Amino acid sequence: MLSRSSFILFRLLFSALLGLFILLVSGCSTIKTTQLPTGPTSTEDMVVTASPDATKVGSHILAQGGNAVDAAVAVQFALAVTYPRAGNIGGGGFAVVRWHDGESRTLDFREKASRHASRDMYLDADQNVIPGLSLRGHLASGVPGSVQGMYELHRWKGVLPWQQVIQPAIDLATEGFEITADQAQVFNRYQERFLDINHHDIPLTKKEGWNAGDRLQLPDLAATLERIRDQGPEGFYAGRTAQLITQEMESGGGLIDYEDLKRYQAKWRLPLKGTFHDYSVITMGPPSSGGVALIQMLKGLEQFKLNRYEHNSAPYTHLLVEVEKRAYADRATYMGDPDFAPVPVDYLISDAYIDERMAGIDKEVVTPSSDIKEGNVEVVESVQTTHFSIVDKAGNAVGITTTVNSYFGSKVWVDGAGFFLNNEMDDFSAKPGVPNQFGLLGNEANSIRPEKRMLSSMTPTILEKNGDLFMVVGSPGGSTIITTVLQTILNATVFGMSMQEAVDAKRFHHQWMPDIILHETNTFSDAVMNELKLMNYTFQDRGKIGLCDAIMVHENGVLEGGPDSSRGDDTAIGH
Ligand code: DON
Repeated sequence: MLSRSSFILFRLLFSALLGLFILLVSGCSTIKTTQLPTGPTSTEDMVVTASPDATKVGSHILAQGGNAVDAAVAVQFALAVTYPRAGNIGGGGFAVVRWHDGESRTLDFREKASRHASRDMYLDADQNVIPGLSLRGHLASGVPGSVQGMYELHRWKGVLPWQQVIQPAIDLATEGFEITADQAQVFNRYQERFLDINHHDIPLTKKEGWNAGDRLQLPDLAATLERIRDQGPEGFYAGRTAQLITQEMESGGGLIDYEDLKRYQAKWRLPLKGTFHDYSVITMGPPSSGGVALIQMLKGLEQFKLNRYEHNSAPYTHLLVEVEKRAYADRATYMGDPDFAPVPVDYLISDAYIDERMAGIDKEVVTPSSDIKEGNVEVVESVQTTHFSIVDKAGNAVGITTTVNSYFGSKVWVDGAGFFLNNEMDDFSAKPGVPNQFGLLGNEANSIRPEKRMLSSMTPTILEKNGDLFMVVGSPGGSTIITTVLQTILNATVFGMSMQEAVDAKRFHHQWMPDIILHETNTFSDAVMNELKLMNYTFQDRGKIGLCDAIMVHENGVLEGGPDSSRGDDTAIGH
């Protein structure tokens, strides 16, 4: 028989050993690999986009023998027709590509400021930012990069003729397509703004209002796309289309001229690479801040054995928020177009720097953002971007995030050419310390300069596991893009969720300034919310955050699409 004291001793020892065992197991097995797909699956290929018609176009191009690049180019042009709030030829974006042989590349087709842009162009005589000037109307647009970007991408790896990959978009614009309920609602909501800015009807205005199932035809856009089909980038940056763009600019006091268009070049940039446990992360470097911030956060979080926490619990949320605050503070200070001033990328994602940044994190105590800088999130209108992910049957993967910034960009419709121009100029820092539409702060690194690219948060990302393709992921959402991508990755890698579950899971976001947690409705239980409130956190319910369209490659080679169908019209198709 054990005496009482030796029994207690035995129990203590047992608990300590058990604790140690759990700690070791949790520490060693941070990565769960057993998830089963719950989203659409295929053993061949997968296309996931925000527009059902564009998803079909991508899948059709793959069926015709195209590869992931052909499908991506076709989808980009199809989205310009069927998803005009974000899909575009009047905007820009970033592509991350991983070829089946392991080669990876990132393409920057971000818009640029006009040669006539200047640092203080949005300030009044008293040096105050003029509200709305960088957001609406002709002065808000940067020189579009999408057409040049698609041409470069296709030139690199496309196997189908250029004409063939653009044709589906031309057909959609010519024959028309049925709009969804969500589109009808969005078009109706923007009627007045379209008329305010353009002073005339455009194909998206309709006095009696739009209904789901209505057909939209875009003949001018079809003609523009035909010029691009027949002449390549010249069909956009020169000739008739360029003439229509410059006429539009002149009529509304915009800056972009013929020479700006002629000079635009998309750029291949070195992919930004990092690691998270067994995963390699391939993502977009500057002029997007997304990749740097994502790698900083993943590497920082790797130190915390996250799988000890419950998903979206208070301690988990606190840790993510602490890491997010630090990454977004760095974003505001250091990041901008690397062609204008060096961005210390290597330093920002170095182990030593991240160790130093993480050292200040206390698992229970909140670090207030307030003693650094002040900023207010003032969302003046809905914002839109779109991300799509494609994997073909050879295992080539493409993720593209593309945008006109706000819904329908600047709302300026290029008369006769049939498309909206972006309002990407708002992504510059118009004045240090004054937040943009996403509440993001910036300084000199992201000030306006002629021909400079404005800083982005777009984060198209590819993950490899043990050297093989594992995930293609990305999202719209302005400043929330980076944390949406981060959480989707954590959901799959730390919490063992399927692609669909990882996309469906509720999201939250903190961007350092303002010092507030934005969250989706019902992200936190009452108990978790109370726990976080006791730590002094404040909250704002944002309804929905992001529209993440992703693909996961399971260990048996099955591709699982993760369309964000609970938040949007997003769909996935695989053969
Ligand atoms: O490049 C950026 O970071 C922004 N222009 C993206 C805008 C955006 O995601 C709006 N979408 N919801």
